[in-house]
Formats: sequence, structure tokens, C-alpha cells
Amino acid sequence: MEKIITKNFQETADLGFKIGQTCLGGEVFALHGNLGAGKTTFLQGLAKGLGVKNQVNSPTFNILKLYKTKSKSIVKEFCHIDAYRLASGKDLLDLGVNEFLESRNTVTAIEWVEKVESILPKKIISIYIENISESSRIIKIKRG
Ligand SMILES: Nc1ncnc2c1ncn2[C@@H]1O[C@H](COP(=O)(O)OP(=O)(O)O)[C@@H](O)[C@H]1O
Ligand SMILES: [Mg+2]
Repeated sequence: MEKIITKNFQETADLGFKIGQTCLGGEVFALHGNLGAGKTTFLQGLAKGLGVKNQVNSPTFNILKLYKTKSKSIVKEFCHIDAYRLASGKDLLDLGVNEFLESRNTVTAIEWVEKVESILPKKIISIYIENISESSRIIKIKRG
């Protein structure tokens, strides 16, 4: 497991950006961490790295938000899910999320993934973010 310490929100966004730039299409990111840990901050960077030009916001009230990329790569869209308000994975299936999870043209990221773990594909990239202090975070990355 990879471990990185970030000392401010920009470093977390930059880490997301670097990882976004390396995506080949079809990745599913599973985000773990408390409220305010930095999940959305990380994904704002990731989206930029994928070539999303629009501002990525917390999708809490929409649950699922789709962004087009301006990229020449195979990645054509970023699917941002916030499962906080969901009861189970079935709620996500009802939203038609399988279409995005299975698409090579989509990179999907799920905040509060604990709620919907039952429907995840086998191959995911897990991101764990923990607060160390007001402005420091430890970020663990597990690919598998
Ligand atoms: N090292 C850091 N990494 C990420 N966010 C940080 C960091 N230090 C402070 N912050 C602040 O913590 C908050 C994280 O919020 P957000 O990304 O919305 O969290 P989450 O989506 O996990 O609820 C932001 O206000 C951000 O500025
Ligand atoms: Mg968030």
C-alpha cells in the first residue's frame, strides 16, 4: 500500500491530478474518509487530471454527477458519486451506475463507498484519507 502525507489541500488536489493523468479508462476509485477528510478535494484534482474543465463540486444532493472530459484519450467522462445518503448498493444500481462502472470511456469515483461496497467490481483503486492535523492528511492508496 502506497502512503503519502499532504500538508495542505493543494497537495491533496495535486496528488489526485497526478493520478488522474495516469488513468487509462475504466478505473473505479473507492474513497474512504470522514467528513472533511479531503475526498472531494482529491477528486477535484483527479478530474482535472482526466481533462475535466468544469468545476467539480460535492455531489451530495445529486448523488451522481457526470462530467465530460476535454481529453484526447479514451477517457471521455468522469462519474462522481457521493453515496452518503444512500442505504445500500441497490440504490446505486437503480440509478443505472453499472453503465458507468463497466465503461472503458468512464472513470468513476465513489465517496462514502462503505455504503455501496456490495456492488463494486473486483478491480478497484481504494483511497483512504485520514486527518493527522488541521491541514495534514495521510493518504493511502491500494490497487487491486
Ligand atoms: N491536506 C489536506 N488535504 C485535503 N483537504 C484539506 C487538507 N488540509 C485542509 N483541508 C481542508 O479540508 C477540507 C476537505 O473537504 P472535502 O474535500 O470536501 O472533504 P470530504 O469530501 O472528505 O468531506 C477542505 O476545506 C480543505 O481545504
Ligand atoms: Mg465530499
